Amino acid sequence: ALQACLFDLDGVIVDTAQYHYIAWRELAQRYGFDLTLEQNELLKGIGRMESLDIILKLGEVDLPMEERVVQATIKNERYLELCQQIVPSDALPGVHDFLKELQDNDIKIGLGSASKNAPLILERLQMTPVFEALIDGNRVTKGKPDPQVFLLGAQELGVDPAATIVFEDALAGVQAGNAAGMKTVGIGQVDVLSEADMVLPGFEALQLASLTEALGFERI
Ligand code: BG6
Ligand code: MG
Repeated sequence: ALQACLFDLDGVIVDTAQYHYIAWRELAQRYGFDLTLEQNELLKGIGRMESLDIILKLGEVDLPMEERVVQATIKNERYLELCQQIVPSDALPGVHDFLKELQDNDIKIGLGSASKNAPLILERLQMTPVFEALIDGNRVTKGKPDPQVFLLGAQELGVDPAATIVFEDALAGVQAGNAAGMKTVGIGQVDVLSEADMVLPGFEALQLASLTEALGFERI
């Protein structure tokens, strides 16, 4: 039966993807090119420095390491400035109800995020106590699609990866969950997330019983 759920943060619990996009786009524009929403899709779930490298490649800009670190810092400061507007009610629709249902059924809850800012965002949402394991960008050496972030999460919760569901809005994250041997639920568009075991538009009206049945878990 299902033992745990691991959640990505950005784009699953809260829509911070829009703030990452604004901050990255401003960086691109400083170098004279634009970053489209479609290109931004490639950056979801990807760590900060790796994202910067992808963006610079898109703009055909070559920067020495020192300057890349400076630019990544500027981007992060801008991102954090935008995140100051996050309030508890910004948790995406249905998230709180679904987490409550998990708690009521003794399903463990963990976070598996590439972001080094994850603890801060959870604080802003007043959701830190919900997560029994908190794996973020400060704790992994290999980014998604490597399964490390989710395997660490399962280990810390003391659960079997095969009895775990991963919720992800990024293709790289779905791939990481699959590589970890977990069931994956894509949150977003089917065309982007087709590698997931199941794709949902969001958590609204999601029932644990129908979810576990659809994913082939035994009754809780
Ligand atoms: C992921 C986001 O959750 O975290 C990416 O989807 C982001 O867009 C990555 O680049 C790293 O985040 P941060 O906050 O450490 O720069
Ligand atoms: Mg995400």
